[in-house]
Amino acid sequence: YHVDMDASDTEKGPFPFYMLKEINEQPAVLRRLAQDYLDESGKPVIEPDLLAALDQADRLYILAAGTSYNAGLAAKSVFETLANIPVEVGLASEFGYNTPLLSKKPFFLFLSQSGETADSRQVLVKVNEWGYPSLTMTNAQGSTLSREATYTMLLNAGPEIAVASTKAYTAQIALQTILAKGLGEKRGVKSAQDFNVREQLGLVANGMQTIIDEKDFINQLAQNYLATTRNAFYIGRGYDYAVSLEAALKLKEISYVQAEGFAGAELKHGTISLIEDGTPVIAIITDARVASHTRGNIQEVRARGAHVLTIAMEAVADKEDNLILADIDPLISPLLSVVPTQLLAYYTSLNRGYDVDKPRNLAKAVTVE
Ligand code: AGP
Repeated sequence: YHVDMDASDTEKGPFPFYMLKEINEQPAVLRRLAQDYLDESGKPVIEPDLLAALDQADRLYILAAGTSYNAGLAAKSVFETLANIPVEVGLASEFGYNTPLLSKKPFFLFLSQSGETADSRQVLVKVNEWGYPSLTMTNAQGSTLSREATYTMLLNAGPEIAVASTKAYTAQIALQTILAKGLGEKRGVKSAQDFNVREQLGLVANGMQTIIDEKDFINQLAQNYLATTRNAFYIGRGYDYAVSLEAALKLKEISYVQAEGFAGAELKHGTISLIEDGTPVIAIITDARVASHTRGNIQEVRARGAHVLTIAMEAVADKEDNLILADIDPLISPLLSVVPTQLLAYYTSLNRGYDVDKPRNLAKAVTVE
């Protein structure tokens, strides 16, 4: 499938909604990012002075809103593992209220599909006044956040029309991974040298396509688990927790299900009291380090009547898992594990008869405070 780089409001093509078109475009978007930002040997091609500025930083602040914030959460461990740089991910709207800026040499990364989000723009104004370097990763060339940051990297994902962001989320994680690999190589970090980003993005794109090809089965799961529920939980640990937050946001914003993303271990610290007979709990398991613990959480919620759906990566799957993901490096597993959750949200909204692309009370870009 190719990326429709100049889709306009009338070009859904064979798709009933833009959201499904944009979910389908994700493998092509990743392949395009590999084309745009990796040389033939798979080495990241990044503006030298951007890399130099980032290399001098003692802390990387990743600031965003909504799904873009969730993309930052998913990339925190990628930067810290591949590039040995401490990362603080924050909601742009909350930045500056709590801790003082303790870094001597901070670097600010703004993630924004539209490049116009007011919460993010207001922080970039302050960052510029303070004289710190910044990078905007955005899907909108020439947008405010792109123009006003020191550096810019484009997602080249093609227009994202549906209010619910899908391909921008995965593109932002992929591009952050490419940047982290580039920084790690510059710093001589072994885990970066060992991480074959071209191979991994190729595996992810293929794994995404496999899931997308199973969309009718995922529609069945949506009907079996989410058709009439008022609430739902996504649970996971580590990388699977970051993606649980995005999975929950998707379900909330387009199907109006009160969904929560929870760290698996946190259930017993209060949340498990919400589990009733039939409460849908969707567990995401991609990392061998936490698989048995998350499966312990599954037993706990099942014992209280939860209706559990499990999404597991091949290497850690067992026979009763509902959806199996192709094996990729767990470090970037949100790139793949998010796809079934996007489709679960899509079909839940569709089956409830809602306007999937234009959920109530929401705008595609929140350009006012
Ligand atoms: C995500 O599905 C929503 N549309 C919303 O949370 C969005 O991610 C947020 O408003 C940030 O928008 P931006 O990426 O354009 O800055």
